[in-house]
Amino acid sequence: MKLSFKPADVFVDRHNGPDAAAVAEMLRTIGVESVDQLINETVPARIRLKHELNLPAALTERQFLHRFKQIAGQNKVFRSFIGLGYHDTQLPPVILRNIMENPGWYTAYTPYQAEIAQGRLEALINYQTMVIDLTGLEIANASLLDEGTAAAEALHMFHGLTKKKNATKFFVSEQVLPQTIDVLRTRATPLGIELIIGDHRTADLADEALFGAIVQYPAADGEVFDYTDFISQAHDHGIMVAVAADLLALTLLTPPGEMGADAVVGNSQRFGVPLGYGGPHAGFLATKDAFKRVIPGRIIGQSVDAAGNKAYRMALQTREQHIRREKATSNICTAQVLLSVIAGMYAVYHGPQRLTQIASNVHLLTRQLSTGLQELGLSLSAEHYFDTVSLALESAELSQALKTELEANGINLRYFGESSVGISLHEKAEVEDVADILRAFAKVLGKPAPAAAELVEAPADLELNWPQSLIRTSEFLTHPVFNTHHAEHELLRYMKQLENKDLSLAHSMISLGSCTMKLNATAEMIPVTWPEIGQLHPFAPREQAQGYAEIFKDLEAWLCEVTGFDAVSLQPNSGAQGEYAGLLVIKAYHEARGDHHRNVALIPASAHGTNPASAAMCGMNIVVVKSTEQGEIDLDDLKEKAEKHSANLSCLMVTYPSTHGVYEESIIDICNLIHEHGGRVYMDGANMNAQVGLTSPANIGADVCHLNLHKTFCIPHGGGGPGVGPIGVVADLAPYLPGHVVVDADGRSGGAVSAAPWGSASILPISYAYIAMMGGEGLKAATQTAILNANYLKARLEEHYPVLYTGAQGRVAHEMILECRHFKKAGIEVEDIAKRLMDYGFHAPTVSFPVAGTLMVEPTESEGKEELDRFCEAMIKIRQEIREVEEGRADAKDNPLKHAPHTAAVLLDAEWTRPYSREQAAYPTDFARRYKFWPSVSRIDSAFGDRNLICACTPIEAYADQEEHLVPTDKGPSY
Ligand SMILES: Cc1ncc(COP(=O)(O)O)c(C=O)c1O
Repeated sequence: MKLSFKPADVFVDRHNGPDAAAVAEMLRTIGVESVDQLINETVPARIRLKHELNLPAALTERQFLHRFKQIAGQNKVFRSFIGLGYHDTQLPPVILRNIMENPGWYTAYTPYQAEIAQGRLEALINYQTMVIDLTGLEIANASLLDEGTAAAEALHMFHGLTKKKNATKFFVSEQVLPQTIDVLRTRATPLGIELIIGDHRTADLADEALFGAIVQYPAADGEVFDYTDFISQAHDHGIMVAVAADLLALTLLTPPGEMGADAVVGNSQRFGVPLGYGGPHAGFLATKDAFKRVIPGRIIGQSVDAAGNKAYRMALQTREQHIRREKATSNICTAQVLLSVIAGMYAVYHGPQRLTQIASNVHLLTRQLSTGLQELGLSLSAEHYFDTVSLALESAELSQALKTELEANGINLRYFGESSVGISLHEKAEVEDVADILRAFAKVLGKPAPAAAELVEAPADLELNWPQSLIRTSEFLTHPVFNTHHAEHELLRYMKQLENKDLSLAHSMISLGSCTMKLNATAEMIPVTWPEIGQLHPFAPREQAQGYAEIFKDLEAWLCEVTGFDAVSLQPNSGAQGEYAGLLVIKAYHEARGDHHRNVALIPASAHGTNPASAAMCGMNIVVVKSTEQGEIDLDDLKEKAEKHSANLSCLMVTYPSTHGVYEESIIDICNLIHEHGGRVYMDGANMNAQVGLTSPANIGADVCHLNLHKTFCIPHGGGGPGVGPIGVVADLAPYLPGHVVVDADGRSGGAVSAAPWGSASILPISYAYIAMMGGEGLKAATQTAILNANYLKARLEEHYPVLYTGAQGRVAHEMILECRHFKKAGIEVEDIAKRLMDYGFHAPTVSFPVAGTLMVEPTESEGKEELDRFCEAMIKIRQEIREVEEGRADAKDNPLKHAPHTAAVLLDAEWTRPYSREQAAYPTDFARRYKFWPSVSRIDSAFGDRNLICACTPIEAYADQEEHLVPTDKGPSY
């Protein structure tokens, strides 16, 4: 036997599902000779790249991890007491390993199929309850992208709610975090809203144009104000007030809801979520029940299933802003689910007592610190504070000397203004940290160290010295869930119980069209939880983040190569935020040329709802372009509208390949047409998985596009977030990319769209790893395989489910739409198929987008032939079950589709009166029998939950009263 030496761990073979033998079989089924032939028949020659991607050679997993350790090693992990909304925190190891590092949690999708997502829905309702309890308000959403954008969402919400005719001014306390003010300015300007920035104590609230206000609690310099009077005066003038608040402080401070706030926004990061050099973290927004229909983001609510049991699902979904398209006031789609699950679980683990203890420790250390600073003759700007003190030194030289001295000791503080210093203590702060800080102050001031610096043990017990009105008296987190799982075994088992209720990529393929649920390889995930990646404060001096600088530089360059663009911004925290950022860039470009009137966005009817929502948030006029019967952009309609709006044309937004799963041949002509009319082309890059290495946004003629790194570039969906939506632009648009007020983000001039300069920096290593381990050839092979897998599914399924749209030669891109509307004649809805798939162990494809009543299937390149065949087997068997109904052999209402999904409880009930067997219900295939995934609830009645909205953990006593109401409506499940 001859042995030859070859690398055995080539990553591309692990990422792409089918091996050579499977590829050969699949090609036979499709009816083509080779992958090249398939690609030639699928991707129009006109748009094909003429060159191979120029990326570094692919690394193996081992090589990547070794190399990345060196890069990350250039980051210096200092003790950061910078604050400004970001605080070091102790993620309990049990949560780190069992949620943050656990694919059972991080590979799930947004819980659209609620029956197989009860675990994270429960975790999210815990999070909502935590936010509601701590803020003292009535309703909260399940997360927003960060504190800055949460504040901007409150502004938009108030603007939508106000009855004032000339509502053009929004008051912002000068003590709001600077990055929040930056984001607020970005978001207010396109809507013609002026920010009035000042001291809330002297603000002129009588101005009729003021419709809303925001204040910070505790304020940026640490002062804790009682806002009761301010809020009440604002209300007298018809002004709604948002309070940006710190959740940990709220365990001790009177909640803003009790001061009358209309909304409370903030960041839950310090509840166990690593700093991550800026993100991802879960923002939150809590508000009054009366505003529940306009609250941005997703809300989880309680409802009932077909058996009358309590069940959770996303509530009031038709209220979701982006579904309202051009009428929307928010575009939130992907949010920060994994991070809110972590923050909520941190509260479950610690409970109200331990949380209060953490807050007390932080406060007592801060008191110790301020005593020492005062002993040194320094006066603090805040009279009452929680964890932050600020002071002004005599000169800039002194402040610089302090910075040098502390940095030599590995400590970062906040240095701002001429010579001001801010110090924010956090959960991990120790007495030694306080002593080190005080000694450094003493040294630069040339004074002996104060007594407080000699402290080696815990600070003394002290009375809270805040005015009574600021001291929290109300209880919080009283629900048993926050008072039960405080020992590690308890929490471990609770988290496992929840995880077991959810179907993730760890179970089976999730073929959600437009969502690209591909492999999130373990090697890609490993660096995310390294301290060199996780423990950097976003406003740490850039010299300490040289590793990050290299990651950003490489990743931006690689994404430029993949897209064909000249510059990339990594700042947006989701695809929709990328859309918004990209449209702002186009807007700024027109404005810089004096074309202020160019304000029309052409958007095809088939576009994802976030497209028109983002354009509306930019204050653009949206003109909808029709689709043809083949699912393509109607060229005649486009021409007519481009001509009609030529003078005012800002841009076209186009998804490519289209959400109908085809590469439009005419895309280059479409882009040329828009350019001829002076507009720019925005490409929605959600379908980039069908482009990489074969074509590119620049190649088709686009000027800007966002990439969903949480789709094409392997960042896991986390059950509904985090996401990263960087944008790429052609050279003349580069100057308008987002900048940042606190950190100079490479001299870019645009306003910030996220609170952190590089958005969700700590998950960028995942995409970095993917590109580094795939290399140019591997990325192209992934795209080819994605197209192969989709066309294989088409070949196997089309005789059972007609494929709605195909390209000129009958091929589909990386996804396809399966027709299901004709089953309605037999009373079978597309949702019945989606729910029945759960009994077979699969998550449904995308339901009713972009065409109502259909399924959009995207297998991705990571699924092997065996898994694709299992999925086909399920779909074909379901088709047979539908036929039984169509042909009258099965009852139209009493059949396995209508009763799906089947829970163990239903099947084990002593009584079984259905006309089909228990076996057919639960074990319709051999795969299901061997690897059964049991849905934990039966079909959920969403309408019932929307009529009886409950969005927080209900106390046990309330269940007792409620139980009798927990019955399904006689109309049955309503979808
Ligand atoms: C075509 C398309 N555009 C935009 C988006 C919005 O992206 P995100 O959810 O990251 O905000 C999606 C999300 O699924 C999408 O499918």
